[in-house]
Amino acid sequence: MTHPDLTVIDHPLVQHKLSLMRDNRTPSPEFRRLLREIALLLSYEATRDLPIATQRIDTPLTAMDAPMLAGPDPAVVSILRAGNGLLDGVLDVVPTAKVGFVGLYRDEETLRPIEYYNKLPKDMPGRFTIAVDPMLATGHSAAAAIDLLKRAGAAHICFICLLAAPEGVAVMAEHHPDVRIVTASLDSHLNEKGYIVPGLGDAGDRIFGTV
Ligand code: URA
Repeated sequence: MTHPDLTVIDHPLVQHKLSLMRDNRTPSPEFRRLLREIALLLSYEATRDLPIATQRIDTPLTAMDAPMLAGPDPAVVSILRAGNGLLDGVLDVVPTAKVGFVGLYRDEETLRPIEYYNKLPKDMPGRFTIAVDPMLATGHSAAAAIDLLKRAGAAHICFICLLAAPEGVAVMAEHHPDVRIVTASLDSHLNEKGYIVPGLGDAGDRIFGTV
């Protein structure tokens, strides 16, 4: 099943940086830097629908009605722990965003998510919310995290991931067709252990050097 709102950013800069990340010789410090840079580039597209309104300002030459971000500050929610690798790149372009964290770990046998941490910004209703996790694999963690955001009142949600598997996209289509997905690549499939192929391995391990 395909998702009604899936955007794959096939920009040359994104694709080049992603290929460097996939290479298993790329060490953690470079992997982290590339992930942050790609997060910034994906955020540019993910925030396309942020509301704007004009405000009267004076340039050195004249007065004008200038477009500015309107409404409550957006929320960025990192799905721990690998989501933290995308967080700073999003905050580079949306520095006023409020930051939340959702902790889910994957039961290695069932591959289902178990919640262990949940700290969200206040007043989620009304905030444009960006959920971040580098790997949309089975989709179970992402769908559970989005469930939690919706229970907190978030209504306008975009999910940013580095890689998506068709299986994860199908789960998101079934449970959250209203949530836009912005990714750098739709990969081939999941292997029997739930890893994305060709993928890049365990994103958390590669970000934090715990391989
Ligand atoms: N999580 C990862 O870190 N990598 C995968 O390939 C799948 C899930």
